[in-house]
Amino acid sequence: MELTQMEQEMLEGKHGEGVALAMKVQVATGEAFGAARMVPITRAHVALSNQDADTWFAEKMAKAGAKCKIAPTVNPGFSLKYFCGHCQSQKAMTAEDVDMMHRTHNAYKQLGAVLTYNCTPYLGSNIPQFKEVIGFSESSATPYVNAVWGARSNRESSLSALCAAITGLVPEYGLLLDENRKGDILVEVQADMDNDFAYQMLGYMGKKIGPGIPVFVGIAKRPTSEALMNLGAQLNTSGAYGMYHIVGVTPEAPTLEAAFGGKEPARKVVITNQDLKEIRDTISQAPGRIDFALFGCPHFSINQIKQVADIVQGQKLAVDLWIMTSANNKYLAERMGLKEILNAAGADIVEETCMDQPCWHFLKGKVGITDSPKLAYYPKKRGINFVIRDLETSVQAALKGEVE
Ligand code: F3S
Repeated sequence: MELTQMEQEMLEGKHGEGVALAMKVQVATGEAFGAARMVPITRAHVALSNQDADTWFAEKMAKAGAKCKIAPTVNPGFSLKYFCGHCQSQKAMTAEDVDMMHRTHNAYKQLGAVLTYNCTPYLGSNIPQFKEVIGFSESSATPYVNAVWGARSNRESSLSALCAAITGLVPEYGLLLDENRKGDILVEVQADMDNDFAYQMLGYMGKKIGPGIPVFVGIAKRPTSEALMNLGAQLNTSGAYGMYHIVGVTPEAPTLEAAFGGKEPARKVVITNQDLKEIRDTISQAPGRIDFALFGCPHFSINQIKQVADIVQGQKLAVDLWIMTSANNKYLAERMGLKEILNAAGADIVEETCMDQPCWHFLKGKVGITDSPKLAYYPKKRGINFVIRDLETSVQAALKGEVE
């Protein structure tokens, strides 16, 4: 890679040990991907996982004196405030689990991150502009910033996104370049995309869609922001997609020709209602009794919180129901009276928490219901299983304690 004098000095340690280490990681990554140079970024998002490797790396950077040049927003760990007062969770968590969250918090605070603890920054706290070059990690975030906002980010890891935040640079390769943003696969959607849940299922079709950038056609109604959030989250979970196009909807696909950049699709795939039903039945636990309901992977928007509150208003839930969201949305829900409605029904809003955290270990051996395949994906390895249904059906099931 060709580095400027300043970049070379950063690599040699003239701007501190932390900056040198970050540059070393980024130059090696750039060389591995054939990047010719580094380019500046104006935003970053770090998908911290509050797990050993990430926290170790953040602490190492902090100890080496690194400070973020571009203050990144960060993903959730778990809310110490909520779960240390939640007796079931307290019993299941170890002192090390709690200590890890403190360590993560302190390391990112020292590095100068914006401590949002939210995995949907692209809907509120960190929204890029069209063609803005950024360094984002987080599976629902990367497709959203690329496909929906038309910004430019590779699928950074939490570590490489932190390096980008520290140096203010990224190696220029992959989705940062025009020629790599064009479509490869024509996906003809014959399924009725009549609610946000259909986009969860469409996104989970990664195996059928196959490798490359999908271009969706046949979607008659404009998807909601939540539908696009669902689509990206599941596409990245099922097939590591950092980019897609929807003709007539996403900004780099005003026409089919523009989406493919004038080239022929490498493949054509058709998705039907039957495909969506089959994928749901493959990943879902069989219907029957449920022990709890859990939503917010990715974090729920205020609209989604309102949808749940509208369904449960004036009723009592048969099982526990939690909604994970940002601290801002929780505050907004409180101000709008939604939290009161939810609490009266027996539901709770949990701020700044991810599904893939030890705070949920008390649910081991239980069966929940959710609208998100990604939410069901991580806990499975910890013995927590889920029935997957659309949001309305899931909340109705939580009111009854079972689903047909
Ligand atoms: Fe967010 Fe964690 Fe799900 S970061 S998308 S709640 S796995």
